[in-house]
Amino acid sequence: MRILITGGAGYIGSHTLLEILGEKHDVCVIDNYSNSSPVALERVAKLTNSNFVKVAADVCDERALNNVFEDFKPEAVIHFAGLKAVGESAAVPLKYYEHNVQGTIALLKAMEASGCDRIVFSSSATVYGEPVYLPYDEDHPCAPTNPYGRTKYFVEEILKDWAHSNDRNSVVLLRYFNPVGAHSSGRIGEDPDDIPNNLMPFVSQVAVGRRSKLQVFGNDYDTPDGTGLRDYIHVVDLARAHVAAVDYVAKNRGVDAFNIGTGKGATVLEVVKAFEAASGREIPYSFGPRRAGDIAASIADPAKARKMLNWQAKHSLKDMCESSWEWQSGNPNGYRSD
Ligand code: NAD
Ligand code: WQD
Repeated sequence: MRILITGGAGYIGSHTLLEILGEKHDVCVIDNYSNSSPVALERVAKLTNSNFVKVAADVCDERALNNVFEDFKPEAVIHFAGLKAVGESAAVPLKYYEHNVQGTIALLKAMEASGCDRIVFSSSATVYGEPVYLPYDEDHPCAPTNPYGRTKYFVEEILKDWAHSNDRNSVVLLRYFNPVGAHSSGRIGEDPDDIPNNLMPFVSQVAVGRRSKLQVFGNDYDTPDGTGLRDYIHVVDLARAHVAAVDYVAKNRGVDAFNIGTGKGATVLEVVKAFEAASGREIPYSFGPRRAGDIAASIADPAKARKMLNWQAKHSLKDMCESSWEWQSGNPNGYRSD
């Protein structure tokens, strides 16, 4: 299939690109590199020994999108491009609505104009908000608690309306839990520009000596050791879920949401321990206050993806930490290490 990947230079996009190229699909990547490096694309091209089209453009730019659809004629789209920092989304919500919501509308308009009717969307477990019960299944009520989460929720609703607007459109909403880890080559991985917002990149930067210690946000949650519990999913497993989802949109019509997680949780202290074992480095930490907006625990029920996408996570927390360390130690300054 000819597949357009928006945001393909980013963390999850680059891992998915690699898997999709491995399936012999033809690919065009569109990215504005606002949170990524073109080096990631060069490395994927080398690792896969394959060629793909690269377009440096913004998904809000309708003219650029129309050109891409006219030239490349995608048969399906995987839509990663967007902004993802929860804290920043509260400070500059309009920027988030523009990139995430307006960007998706522009993309759908370009798809309609060219007759492309299949899309896989990067949604998030954050759409569920405070758990009413755990594990979350796809019928859990959605009540996101921050502007970033609301952009994901609103885009899901827009995509549902679009899916129902005729009998050709096909939409898959992938609700990712906590993606971590890196490709086994150690050549691509997560490369935050600034102080990492998320646990795993922070821990790996402490291990490699870029930061002195981790602050654990709260140790009085109702979890086995009092620290936050999450369903971490290896980014390569997540990338494989996109391979399955592309196959699914090609064969089905309408809209479906799927949780993409392992169904198992790990606390912050368990992650720290697993990372120490994987890296052989001590991770100094201290306990601080809870982070505003955090929940105690988040775990996926991945049964629907297993049944309908024939996909399930294969990698353990140990694999996640070992591959993160391989990437971080080999590229201490991310893609700027070249
Ligand atoms: P990322 O920032 O590494 O990747 C996003 C990519 O999109 C980057 O390459 C960035 O340059 C590009 N981009 C951003 N805005 C753009 C625009 N307007 N036009 C063109 N390109 C643009 O993030 P990621 O972790 O790879 O996340 C990918 C997607 O998955 C995002 O939509 C994110 O919200 C979603 N998601 C991520 C997580 C996570 O924890 N990483 C969890 C759930 C959902
Ligand atoms: C994990 C645990 C923290 C950093 C976020 C987004 C979510 C989704 C995935 C996009 C929590 C604790 C963290 C640190 C810590 N992204 N922690 N010290 O918050 O589950 O999810 O990323 O869709 O929308 O909210 O992930 O990695 O930030 O935190 O103690 O320096 O680690 O409190 O318990 P989170 P995270």
